[in-house]
Amino acid sequence: MPKIHPFTRNAIKDIIPYEPGKPISEVQREYGLTDVIKLASNENPLGPSPKAVDAIKAALQELNLYPDGGCYLLRKKLSEKLNVQTSQLVIGNGSAELIELICEAFIGEGDEAVIGYQAFFKYRIAVQIMNGVINWAEMPGNTYDADEILAKVSGKTKVLFIANPNNPTGTLMDKNQVAYLMDRLPDDVIVVFDEAYYDYQSGNDYPDTIEYLQRGLSVIILRTFSKSYGLAGLRIGYAITNEGIAHSMNGVREAFNVNSLAQVAATAALDDDEFLQKSIKMNEEGKLFFYKELERLGLEYRPTAANFILIKVPIPGRDLFKLLLKKGVVVRPVDGYGLPEYIRVSIGLPDENRRFFSSLEGVIQELNHC
Ligand SMILES: Cc1ncc(COP(=O)(O)O)c(C=O)c1O
Repeated sequence: MPKIHPFTRNAIKDIIPYEPGKPISEVQREYGLTDVIKLASNENPLGPSPKAVDAIKAALQELNLYPDGGCYLLRKKLSEKLNVQTSQLVIGNGSAELIELICEAFIGEGDEAVIGYQAFFKYRIAVQIMNGVINWAEMPGNTYDADEILAKVSGKTKVLFIANPNNPTGTLMDKNQVAYLMDRLPDDVIVVFDEAYYDYQSGNDYPDTIEYLQRGLSVIILRTFSKSYGLAGLRIGYAITNEGIAHSMNGVREAFNVNSLAQVAATAALDDDEFLQKSIKMNEEGKLFFYKELERLGLEYRPTAANFILIKVPIPGRDLFKLLLKKGVVVRPVDGYGLPEYIRVSIGLPDENRRFFSSLEGVIQELNHC
């Protein structure tokens, strides 16, 4: 830990920077490996949407110009697709930026936010930056529980964050639980439904959160182009909310927060249904392969509603992560979420999934011989 400057704001002195998934190039350098696979950041293993790539190529000649600060074309397309007004949409430099905008707009010193104990890391950091207070809700069975959340809501609660499905657990808060929660929450609490993995839903128990918005409740729905559309490197996501909340979020965002290539790519990707369906299908098949292999190996896991899976492993997750790194397979330790006995693995291409399991089996066998 470096010596921090004395002017550093108290609110951020204790922030533990996020530990991103190790990039392939870093693992190659550190371990002298050439063939490395990364199943650590829930990216789309098929690559980017081809329509998005074509749109980027066509837009390259205009890089001398600032982007459209209002993301007009993208918001227009999204508004038609989602059946909401363009004024209800805020576009962000990834949905991660939108989480920060929400906190900048609504969390002041001492204001409270309710966050699930094993919920996506970004909420914690964004609230801390604003000197807000976090009320942690327990997540029994690694999943959100409406009563646990309600028990943590007070008169000072401004925002409730729910990642649905949640990262890193992959668990879903189904529509009945969400309805139970929404019936009991005070109306003024802003509920953020972070639906980064929305497209991967297969059943019909997923909540229709836009409906809550249309009923007039204070809801913000976050979605991203980073996962199912394969555009994580461009950084672009969006919020669907009411006009008033959108207005406040726009008030704190940087004028040109979304770059021009991201805008054209996302707009084109929305027309790339072929790529979207291919991504969803591959994930679904990969998921079933994971379940089958995990059952064969006798490893406990959480059924997932996303493109990654939480696996309970026989040695500390961080140790297993290091052993797998040596075999050129990058997964994610999740001890930072209070889950030291688990790893999180993104579902990859069929070959990558097979490579993960053969490496995992190899590590387990080596441990058994020690
Ligand atoms: C639940 C959740 N929300 C938001 C994000 C951030 O996505 P983006 O790339 O849009 O910033 C992630 C990324 O992994 C996520 O898992």
